[in-house]
Amino acid sequence: MKRTRSAVVALKLITALALVLAPAPFARAQRAPVEAKHGMVATVHDLASEAGVEILKKGGNAVDAGVAVGLALTVVYPFAGNLGGGGFMLIHLADGRTVAIDYRETAPAASSRDMFLGPDGKVLKPGPGSSTVGWRASGVPGSVAGFALAQQKYGSGKVSWADVCEPARRLAADGFVISQGTAANLKAYAKFLSQFPESKRIFLADGAFHEAGTRWRQPDLAAVFARLQQNGPREFYEGETARLIADAMAKNGGTLTLADLKGYTAVERQPLRGTYRGHEIVTMPPPSSGGIALLQMLGMLETHDVAKLGANSAAKFHLFIEVMRRAFRDRAEFLGDPDFVNVPTAGLLDRAYIAGLMENFDPAKATPSDGLAPGNPAGWTPIKVSQLGDHRARLAAESTETTHYSIVDAAGNAVSNTYTLNGGYGSGVTIPGTGILMNNEMDDFTSKIGVKNMFGLLQGPANAIAPGKRPLSSMTPTFVLKNGALLFVTGSPGGPTIINTVLQVITNVIDHKMPVMQAVEFPRFHHQWQPNTISHDRFSISPDTSALLTAMGHSLNERPNVVGGDAETVMIDPETKLRLGAADPRKPDAKAVGY
Ligand code: GLY
Repeated sequence: MKRTRSAVVALKLITALALVLAPAPFARAQRAPVEAKHGMVATVHDLASEAGVEILKKGGNAVDAGVAVGLALTVVYPFAGNLGGGGFMLIHLADGRTVAIDYRETAPAASSRDMFLGPDGKVLKPGPGSSTVGWRASGVPGSVAGFALAQQKYGSGKVSWADVCEPARRLAADGFVISQGTAANLKAYAKFLSQFPESKRIFLADGAFHEAGTRWRQPDLAAVFARLQQNGPREFYEGETARLIADAMAKNGGTLTLADLKGYTAVERQPLRGTYRGHEIVTMPPPSSGGIALLQMLGMLETHDVAKLGANSAAKFHLFIEVMRRAFRDRAEFLGDPDFVNVPTAGLLDRAYIAGLMENFDPAKATPSDGLAPGNPAGWTPIKVSQLGDHRARLAAESTETTHYSIVDAAGNAVSNTYTLNGGYGSGVTIPGTGILMNNEMDDFTSKIGVKNMFGLLQGPANAIAPGKRPLSSMTPTFVLKNGALLFVTGSPGGPTIINTVLQVITNVIDHKMPVMQAVEFPRFHHQWQPNTISHDRFSISPDTSALLTAMGHSLNERPNVVGGDAETVMIDPETKLRLGAADPRKPDAKAVGY
């Protein structure tokens, strides 16, 4: 008996010792990601994630699922999911090929550089006629063309266009039970949406509101999906849907015409590739500013020992803010639609050029934004001297419009897709008879040099409005690879904060070795050169750290809500190959669904 007891005690001791001494192979964050063997879909809405898995289980690949998710989000997440907007889909194929589908909106033929200036030469205030609200705010939507191009060229061929439209059609026709998050969000935008009777009718139940727990059907939108299934994707650009859009635009003083719709094409571009501490970063080229700014920032960070600075130290905040300041300074000067302006991409990503951006970095002192000149990259031809004036812009209130989703399938194909209506619920306009909300993407152009847009961004002549041109974007769908194998897929919404969110998720994983869930959840901060202020999550910078940063010359702006958007991310565990879905708690309905 005594011997048995001592044996048990010895065993307990050995077990305890083993637990203490054993190397933790994969340190856990507070919450574990969702794990699955085959495929994983992480989006802002459980029903959209399930739509993606439904297509994967039918034999579709990540691209097929990505299209189904994008269409389903139109129904369940009208805040940013859309048919009436545009975006970027980055595709990684299991055979190693990568491609970027650019389905960004274009400026209608009738648009012009100064179209949002009033007779007094000032930018029109938000309201009908402006770049942010109403019928003139929309660019030509690209989502349907982008999804069609992606699926036709990179889909599995095992599921049809009609198949990938079906979950969205079903959700619109049969309805879905509204969550607390969706009901609250619709109510929060009641004043905005009420400006347009069709939007009020559909999205606010004519003023009665869609209450949480009730079923919401969208029959007009269901009919659009049925027509898309029957007539194919050109229905949106040439069919009944196109006619309804063009007629409503003409009747209400919009600029978008049937010819604009017929002429729209999504294009394929070569993704940008860079490296960071032995990892390959594959990301979005112009007309996104995101990829260039991200690679510039990673390039500036790589010569510093970020891990040693620690995840939350004043020295780390200072370094990152100085890096962000410089990348956003260049963004304002050099970036626009590469089909219209000569973007000096190679010059901006040259290692020596990037090192030069940090020559005036002082580890103990903030660089004043006002005096900071942009770099002088090779290949740059100045368009016009920029007259950057109103620097007192504040970052627009918590801007998490736009939406991102990440998908990995069983074969290892992956999709990183960010798309948008620009502002939440876009321009506020719904095309009568369709249930389609339109974008207000014209605001992403430079309406006037020296005047901030709705994200508080100052932009240059490279991003001036011109017919057929794509507005500069910050959307940054990204892949991170290690030793040639896909490690994770990420991206985020939130206007300019997107780029800094993606930067922080990447460095959280690579430098701070955070498990994916923690990397996604970790509090974020943002600096965009102008306004010269650090926006940060509540409680995320301690009073001591804050005092150190203030002493260096930084100005801090603690936001009441979160800073930066959700980063719906999927990682592939390098050892087990399990798909790890990290749905971001910043969004109430976000869910990673795997199988
Ligand atoms: N509409 C926000 C962006 O594209 O950056």
